[in-house]
Amino acid sequence: MCQDDNKRQFITRITSHRQLTRDIWELRCDLPSGMLSASPGQFVMIEVSPSLQPFLRRPFSIAYRQPAPSGKGEEFAVIYRVVGEGTRRLKSLSPGDEVNIIGPLGRGFTWPRRDDRRPVLIGGGLGVPPLLFLAQRMVASGVVPQFFAGFTRADQAVGLDMLSELGVVPVVATDDGSLGRRGLVTELLPDPPPGDLCVYSCGPLPMLQAVASWCRTGRIPCEVSLENRMACGVGACLGCAWPAAVPESHDRDSRRYVLICKDGPVFAAEEVFAFDR
Ligand SMILES: Cc1cc2nc3c(=O)[nH]c(=O)nc-3n(C[C@H](O)[C@H](O)[C@H](O)COP(=O)(O)OP(=O)(O)OC[C@H]3O[C@@H](n4cnc5c(N)ncnc54)[C@H](O)[C@@H]3O)c2cc1C
Ligand code: FES
Repeated sequence: MCQDDNKRQFITRITSHRQLTRDIWELRCDLPSGMLSASPGQFVMIEVSPSLQPFLRRPFSIAYRQPAPSGKGEEFAVIYRVVGEGTRRLKSLSPGDEVNIIGPLGRGFTWPRRDDRRPVLIGGGLGVPPLLFLAQRMVASGVVPQFFAGFTRADQAVGLDMLSELGVVPVVATDDGSLGRRGLVTELLPDPPPGDLCVYSCGPLPMLQAVASWCRTGRIPCEVSLENRMACGVGACLGCAWPAAVPESHDRDSRRYVLICKDGPVFAAEEVFAFDR
């Protein structure tokens, strides 16, 4: 880690940790004063265990910020699925425990915008949480976004209570029809896309690609949040490199890759997805 990254390393305290679904948890921590700049789309690297096992921190998007129940300062939340050793360790932590985090990291969503396009947020599964934070910011600035949320099943749905608190009414789809419309969330998008929208999306790669090509047909600006395995989270290991859609010919090194942790995780769709021209 370089000196700058050390400045973004904090010990914070868990304020609440609750189970949302069979395998999805919500962790809230005090927001360190050094993290006040945290914005939607950014993430934190969490040391899930003080032991060396697992050795690497794990990346999680910031799902939202809110005033701390104590009335002093703020807390931030991450919403995560237990998928392996790191998230199993994370799950075992309790309110009051301290965790070592690095953040806020990466480039987030562009908000506010300079134009008056109507924002549409499209999330799939655990791609919904970072969009909650974005919706929170939009509502705070007086704009209520349209929100499309897709889940595999009703018992995998997260974030709907927070959207309702924000006054955002999501259009929901589930693969099996157990909540909202049956099918993929992208099947609910209007065809043709209205041209005055701007789209922000996070979720599984095929969903992001479908959203990006839908936007492309309507010439709508589209930002997508990508994921990859991350070792350092700060641009040092090159482990999260992703092929850029357009080589930057003006760059002396003719760079063909972007680093998801540093250049992203949020990108303009045309930066990372190649389209037929
Ligand atoms: C910028 C960013 C933000 C993220 N935000 C969230 C979030 O808000 N909520 C959440 O639940 N998860 C999020 N993730 C994914 C999360 O970091 C991984 O699920 C976690 O690191 C898994 O750790 P583990 O030790 O439990 O699993 P591991 O044992 O490391 O892996 C278990 C399985 O998950 C797969 N996996 C792990 N990480 C990724 C990844 N990044 N992309 C695709 N597959 C992966 C592995 O290939 C393996 O099959 C985010 C990832 C990134 C890069
Ligand atoms: S995770 Fe190390 S460079 Fe991105």
